[in-house]
Amino acid sequence: MCGIFGYVGKKNNASQITFEGLKLLEYRGYDSWGIAAKVESSKFKVQSSSSKFIVEKHIGKIGDINFNSQLSTLNSQLSIGHTRWATHGGVTVENAHPHLDCTKSIAVVHNGIIENFQELKEELSQKGHKFLSGTDTEVVPHLIEGFQKKEGFASSVKDAFNKLKGLNAIVVANAKSSEIIAAKNGSPLVVGIDKNAFIIASDLIGISDYTNRVIFLKDNQMVILGKKIKLLSLPKGNRLKENIEKINFKFEKSNKGNFEHFMIKEIYEQPGIIRNIAKNYSGKIKKLSKLMEKAKGTFFIGAGTAYNAALAGAYLFSRVSKKHINTSVASEFNYLEHFLNRESLVIALSQSGETIDVIEPLNRAKKRGSKIVGITNAVGSSIYRMADFNILLNAGTETAVASTKTYTAKLSIILLLVFSIINKLKDGKETLLKVSDEIERLLKKENLKKIKDISRSLNNSDTIYIIGRGVSYSSALEGALKIKEVSYKYCEGLAGGELKHGPIALIQKGSPCIVFAPNDETYESIISNAIEVKSRGGMIIGVSPKNSKAFDEWIKVEDLSDGTFITQIIPLQLLSYYLAIERGLDPDKPRNLAKSVTVK
Ligand code: AGP
Ligand code: GLU
Repeated sequence: MCGIFGYVGKKNNASQITFEGLKLLEYRGYDSWGIAAKVESSKFKVQSSSSKFIVEKHIGKIGDINFNSQLSTLNSQLSIGHTRWATHGGVTVENAHPHLDCTKSIAVVHNGIIENFQELKEELSQKGHKFLSGTDTEVVPHLIEGFQKKEGFASSVKDAFNKLKGLNAIVVANAKSSEIIAAKNGSPLVVGIDKNAFIIASDLIGISDYTNRVIFLKDNQMVILGKKIKLLSLPKGNRLKENIEKINFKFEKSNKGNFEHFMIKEIYEQPGIIRNIAKNYSGKIKKLSKLMEKAKGTFFIGAGTAYNAALAGAYLFSRVSKKHINTSVASEFNYLEHFLNRESLVIALSQSGETIDVIEPLNRAKKRGSKIVGITNAVGSSIYRMADFNILLNAGTETAVASTKTYTAKLSIILLLVFSIINKLKDGKETLLKVSDEIERLLKKENLKKIKDISRSLNNSDTIYIIGRGVSYSSALEGALKIKEVSYKYCEGLAGGELKHGPIALIQKGSPCIVFAPNDETYESIISNAIEVKSRGGMIIGVSPKNSKAFDEWIKVEDLSDGTFITQIIPLQLLSYYLAIERGLDPDKPRNLAKSVTVK
């Protein structure tokens, strides 16, 4: 997963344009970044002839840097860049993209994993190619270089791409021909067509400032961008008609406003988003509930937080509408799809709409004739485009890597769907309005002190446990994910009943255990589980409408019946945020992560 950006055209500041483009794509990966540019002419002395690329690479976040190095001052009309999320090869300057061939006239940026890179690298090394990095990517420029001894640039890129195994997108620039060629099978690429330029980027966000005329590259397609554009099919290279779409999308760059971080700002945006869903989604919800009624088998899939929302959905559908929903972690769905058919409905939950672990099983489901529904936050994303029916969350750009507002937005859609299936959509909307009010109450200053105090005390523990039952089991998983990803504290989310089957062996004096105890069918049993932990020295933090003797600390969330599964996650979002702050960490960009995960 990475951000790719490229420019070829008449402007003379291609490297600067690429730098600005990469900044917008940084949410896709931020461990290192780099830019290659072909220098046209320059008053500066550079050690390069115009048929070689000048490359600049850095470790760290691009947002932290002002681009005022030598490269930014050079005249260039051809440039490609990359923000990396390392898969193969550590986070080093050498491993940052772009990677060059031996002649330095071919530059490559890549998104994905080349599964057969070891054997390709050995073959190429034996032929005398010199490798400077530990990445899988670097085989690509050398493969192209090899093919170019016998054939032209375009067919060399085609032949090189056809040799790669795995899900990959590559963008290749050639300093000699002043062209960019891109090919893909997996990760997304969009071409923007401007008057005097072509832009290529991982998504519309990088393009919408320049043009509204785009081509979404499909899998097994290759595009040549130079003076003209040419679209080809892979593996053969047959010419295709370029279908240019006019998009109605303008990326709104979000800012932190008066908040210190995006994460806390996005936590505070939740009441407004939920209110909007309560008021404006009836039509879409009714249509989707009809599709669900018609289907013989509905599947909810998602990754990370989106999976936790899917799991919550399965519990709520069972409890309220007595309907069975199948759920799967999206990356596991590939191995569970054998019973999908034309009557199945696969509902994909995904903030970005770009998660490859979700897209891959959706492609397979499509091949089996199943209907696809996308519940996403990104118009024009891959899932949005492949879905037969879409529901957009309209939660605004979620910038923090940790999902907060799009999690509760997904839960709100699920709640409305459940109520629509039992013909009580009005009740669902009313519940959501109450949810929204309760979140506002939870976010009031006077309620934050307790959360901050608890987060301070949690900082003294190595491990945190969270338990819940039924729909609150999904809250436990989501709470644990939030704590892990932003505070780097080990936190395990468990079904309350599972404790005694092993994990309780870990409980010692003072082990913190957060307990979701809503006023529902799980209350008595989860309190018993809390007491089991307490009896072994555990420190119990109850998230519940009512206090209990079992609790050492109590965070009150009002009883909103079927709406409580949404509100009870707010204290956990806040706890994880304040724990990260307590530990001096950046909650918006946690280490090793990316907002959009486009590799397997
Ligand atoms: C959430 O806090 C995580 N950063 C992560 O689990 C995320 O939800 C997951 O990668 C799925 O992303 P998506 O919703 O964009 O598909
Ligand atoms: N596999 C490549 C690498 O590790 C690309 C990773 C990415 O998609 O950012 O460099």
